[in-house]
Amino acid sequence: MNNKEQLNSNIPEHVAIIMDGNGRWAKKKGFFRAVGHENGTKAVREVVEGAAEIGIKYLTLYAFSTENWNRPKLEVETLMKLLVSSLKKEIKTLQKNNIRLNAIGNLQALPEKARKELLEVIEKTKDNKHMTLSLALSYGSREELIKTIQEISNKVKNNVLSPHLINEAVINEHLYTKTLPDVDLLIRTSGEQRISNFLLWQIAYAELYFTEILWPDYKRTDLFEAILNYQQRERRFGKTSEQLS
Ligand code: FPP
Repeated sequence: MNNKEQLNSNIPEHVAIIMDGNGRWAKKKGFFRAVGHENGTKAVREVVEGAAEIGIKYLTLYAFSTENWNRPKLEVETLMKLLVSSLKKEIKTLQKNNIRLNAIGNLQALPEKARKELLEVIEKTKDNKHMTLSLALSYGSREELIKTIQEISNKVKNNVLSPHLINEAVINEHLYTKTLPDVDLLIRTSGEQRISNFLLWQIAYAELYFTEILWPDYKRTDLFEAILNYQQRERRFGKTSEQLS
């Protein structure tokens, strides 16, 4: 089987990506960090189209973490402006490819303009069926887990839920990712090998894939290479090889 045929089957249902290296990409070229982020948006489009092309059902991108609010004010503003301009520009790409936009994270923390634009595109694409693109914005996994625990505790306190009925499904229902399946493949670019507070609960059985490529240079063929690598792996979910065969 050649690579193209291999990409016709055994495609991970949910791929999540930590897009890292925009700043280093810019520095290497002698540009401001903002230029790295701008070129990062081109890689976002490239990868979204590539993922839709091979039939990935759920793609989740770490666009802005709860910790990213601590970056210099100007950089935060640039990222928020890029979010708004990308949403305005890319709505066409989403509709053309039948992609539904979703967002995970504390959206209340986003500037009004960004939140409004985001909710508008989510609404306009809500009936699209081919792929769900989730943007993690002001997202932090620990914050998400704290929110989940608070909501569940309140239900227990108000006698809506009994503690012995708390199981994985109940927890899943309270996460930002409640409409998404578990992550099958997590990719991080730029050579760093960390999870950085991303989807800690949801990656329990994910395959991890790290690449040296800096995010602005990432192409759909790099995504395909990660998928081909994923297909070589045996996912045992705690069982033995013999049990699987
Ligand atoms: C990491 O690079 C990247 C980010 C913090 C933001 C990701 C944002 C984009 C790709 C552009 C905007 C996205 C959308 C969806 C419109 P870094 O700045 O941490 O790079 P460094 O580690 O080399 O400094």
